[in-house]
Amino acid sequence: MKKVFVVGSGTMGKDIVQVCAQSGYAVAMMDIDESMLNKAMAGINWSLDKLEEKGRLEEPKQTIFSRITAVQSLETAADAGFVIEAIYENLDAKKDVFKKLDNIFSDTAIFGTNTSSLPVTEISVAVSHPERFVGIHFFNPVHRMKLVEIVKGLSTSPETMNAAKEFAQSLGKEPVMVNQDSSGFIVNRINGMAFLEALRLLEKGVASAEDIDKSMRLGLGYPMGPFELMDLVGLDVVLNARMGIYSETREPSHYPPNILRRMVAAGNLGRKTKKGFYEYK
Ligand code: 3HC
Repeated sequence: MKKVFVVGSGTMGKDIVQVCAQSGYAVAMMDIDESMLNKAMAGINWSLDKLEEKGRLEEPKQTIFSRITAVQSLETAADAGFVIEAIYENLDAKKDVFKKLDNIFSDTAIFGTNTSSLPVTEISVAVSHPERFVGIHFFNPVHRMKLVEIVKGLSTSPETMNAAKEFAQSLGKEPVMVNQDSSGFIVNRINGMAFLEALRLLEKGVASAEDIDKSMRLGLGYPMGPFELMDLVGLDVVLNARMGIYSETREPSHYPPNILRRMVAAGNLGRKTKKGFYEYK
């Protein structure tokens, strides 16, 4: 497989595209929004420049960049071997993408979703071969985080799990196998509770965001505290992930506190809007 097709050019989509291109794949990055695509291409260009400056690229930047094509239609990459959907966390929207892709892609292509919290099985019903459907969950920032969670839907075949694992390895990543389609998988299930507890401590006035972050960095050796990390990931993404897990489990302990919902409502989404728990220039 030499060609990858990525649907969605937001933070995760564009970073996945970049990592695929750095690993030698021809990649089509699809988005219906032309301005998003342009922004994503500019972001990848900037990132590759930075990495080249630091001597972290194995090939000339231009060689890597030339492997990427920005496209606005799903039809343009019917010959891709691996399709990765990385649009926003909405079950119907994701199913809609896969329904359309189902008619276009080859009989051997593997369909992957980068969902962080929605059930892989429920998305997979949109395709006629759910045995070729798998969760492939990357971490932000994709060029730095080694982990990829490979998630088995109810119908995913062992061959597909293995192909996804090998694909992740070909990107220089360390895959872990998530053998049951459990909302939040491993990392978000565990770390999400840390986010929620941090938010509750802040809401109750037990400590400031700065001091909670400092505690986790200096007390546990985390590279970032929970508020710094939520700002990096995007508060809307965190909220969606929490709601996804809550709607699946119905456990009140997974319900996001008011402060998170209000910040998202106010449009304070973290680094991407220059304001979250911290302000960014
Ligand atoms: N490409 C290239 N360079 C980039 C870049 C990019 N996309 N983004 C930032 N940089 C540059 C910066 O401009 C800066 O450059 P400079 O040194 O020239 O000023 C440099 O990279 C900063 O990076 P460093 O490597 O120096 O930074 P750190 O060593 O502090 O590491 C970090 C940063 C890797 C983000 C580290 O803080 C970390 O590991 N944080 C935790 C991240 C984490 O937990 N991610 C998982 C989130 S959960 C998730 O994604 C799941 C989802 O479903 C929600």
